[in-house]
Amino acid sequence: MHTKDFQIPQIASAMQELENHLFDAVKSDDPFLTEISTHLIGAGGKRVRPTLALASALSVSSILDYRCYHGAVAVELVHLASLHHDDVMDEATSRRNVASVNSRWGNQIAVVTGDFLLARAAGIAARLGSEVAELLADTLADMCTGQILEVKSGFNLDRSEEEYLEAISGKTASLLGASCKIGASVAGGSEDEKTLLNELGHSFGMIFQIRDDILDFIADRSTLGKTPGQDLTEGVYTLPMIYGLRNPKVSEALGELLKSPDIDLSRINQLLLDSGAFLRSAEILGRYLRRCKEVADELNSGPIWDVVEVAGSLVDSLMQVLQAYPNE
Ligand code: IPE
Ligand code: IPE
Ligand code: MG
Ligand code: MG
Repeated sequence: MHTKDFQIPQIASAMQELENHLFDAVKSDDPFLTEISTHLIGAGGKRVRPTLALASALSVSSILDYRCYHGAVAVELVHLASLHHDDVMDEATSRRNVASVNSRWGNQIAVVTGDFLLARAAGIAARLGSEVAELLADTLADMCTGQILEVKSGFNLDRSEEEYLEAISGKTASLLGASCKIGASVAGGSEDEKTLLNELGHSFGMIFQIRDDILDFIADRSTLGKTPGQDLTEGVYTLPMIYGLRNPKVSEALGELLKSPDIDLSRINQLLLDSGAFLRSAEILGRYLRRCKEVADELNSGPIWDVVEVAGSLVDSLMQVLQAYPNE
């Protein structure tokens, strides 16, 4: 997955400017704290959430002022904090193609610096006004709820599709929805615009997480920037595995393979491929893409169609990876 997949020409220069705001937002009096807080920021990342925030702002207003940049920074900081904490929970070793914060500095540092990033996000949000502050706080609660649902369903071979969708709606789609809504809010959008943009971002987020979950099985390390197969190692059974485990032809073999302490990812992938579980998972994306288009139709503004186009290209590129697999 390459950063350029997420670029929207109309906000390319704004995204450059955002970088300065991001680094500024995490400066502290302690150079060590600043170093750790900027570790993942400097490593890159796709900047999906600020992209959504700025595109949403531009879809309701022709001018991007400092409030728009601060809104975009706040959502990226919440995301960064969730990466610090998620990598502790997952015992991850790499992130954004560099060592994860937990693996480089240890769990304690990763947790505290994650908290620091949240504190900075909360400060920015409060200065933007109570609406943004409340929205961000509610979103953070939804993200925690989604993560808890995921942890509760760990290693559960009976995890259902509904449980999975509810978990990813909380842990990921809520923040993408909020990114759009905050962008609209700081740019002075109407209540209708905020509601529609929230829905568009949420559907985008569902596409984004389901795609990430499929790629976790089949993409290589450098494409992912993190370790493939990590979800299975952690007992997180995502949509392809949920479908595979419900297919009588492969469920028993999959159950046996999941019992092993050393996960045989290529054997598992072959079974998921043969049973059509990957394709079925990818097909669900069409539902969310249609919803993005319906909402964009109602909004009818240029930059938002660019966001829908990005969502469409995410679905297309995933289909291409699936068609090429395993003979890339
Ligand atoms: C990673 O998010 C966590 C998921 C929701 C899948 P991103 O894929 O947006 O991570 P970065 O910001 O590009 O590193
Ligand atoms: C992302 O989900 C959850 C967060 C909100 C950070 P994942 O657990 O799938 O993210 P990755 O795969 O570690 O990036
Ligand atoms: Mg994770
Ligand atoms: Mg993942």
